[in-house]
Amino acid sequence: MKLSSKIILITGGSQGIGLDTATLLKSRGAEVIISARNKERLNSAGEEHGLVPIAGDVASESDVKQIYSFILERYGKLDALVNNAGFGCFDLLEDIDVTEFRDVFATNVTGAMMMAHEAVPIFKKQNSGNIINISSTAGTKGFAGGTAYCGTKFALKAMTQCWQAELRKYNVRVTLINPSEVQTNFAANSGREARPFNPTKLQGTDIAHAICAVLEMEDRGFITELTVFATNPQ
Ligand SMILES: NC(=O)c1ccc[n+]([C@@H]2O[C@H](COP(=O)([O-])OP(=O)(O)OC[C@H]3O[C@@H](n4cnc5c(N)ncnc54)[C@H](OP(=O)(O)O)[C@@H]3O)[C@@H](O)[C@H]2O)c1
Repeated sequence: MKLSSKIILITGGSQGIGLDTATLLKSRGAEVIISARNKERLNSAGEEHGLVPIAGDVASESDVKQIYSFILERYGKLDALVNNAGFGCFDLLEDIDVTEFRDVFATNVTGAMMMAHEAVPIFKKQNSGNIINISSTAGTKGFAGGTAYCGTKFALKAMTQCWQAELRKYNVRVTLINPSEVQTNFAANSGREARPFNPTKLQGTDIAHAICAVLEMEDRGFITELTVFATNPQ
């Protein structure tokens, strides 16, 4: 689709991959709504980059409904949802805290489902729409310490395939994107030690480029799944 004047909603749009995607789509002429929980960071990102902020927790059903009320009242339509909000928890099975495990699923899985659930009636009415689910290479292969995070991203892959099967007939394109390690605040926000910046590893703008390419493809086709690795990380 042509991005000019399109209405695009990005969850987790206040920093990292979400914010880099929002600014790239905005530079292509889209109207971009960003959402996240921390209002101060969200509003300052919105102000700095000309994005429309609407605070909300994707794990809260009432917040999700509020985000959609705002969009429908203001624009009466939605062209794309980028389900990007997410975080990780990387404890070994024996160390997992059940509350934390549930929280990761509440955001990465239930949150993504609720955001898409609210988009469906809008997309069906329009007979068009796009959903991009940001998964991870952790959603393609498990690893030690990945029970919670890999579990959520494998679930997102399964949901993506179900939504593709349900929504294609309404011209809704659903795509899964699997980034490898991307240098954002993700590690710090997921209880991991942040590593020093490495120019040979992926950055948020690389994933933004992939998302932009998926959306800009002519509507007659869609990319089902796209995996992004650093070419030669040192
Ligand atoms: N960085 C990586 O290495 C990497 C690799 C593969 C996949 N990914 C995936 O890419 C996505 C974005 O990650 P990132 O690297 O950009 O992380 P990030 O820099 O930590 O940004 C995460 C964003 O999500 C928001 N968020 C978290 N929980 C939320 C919730 N419950 N409701 C609404 N917003 C929420 C955060 O804002 P608030 O805290 O203010 O809500 C923030 O805007 C995630 O789904 C992640 O799993 C990341």
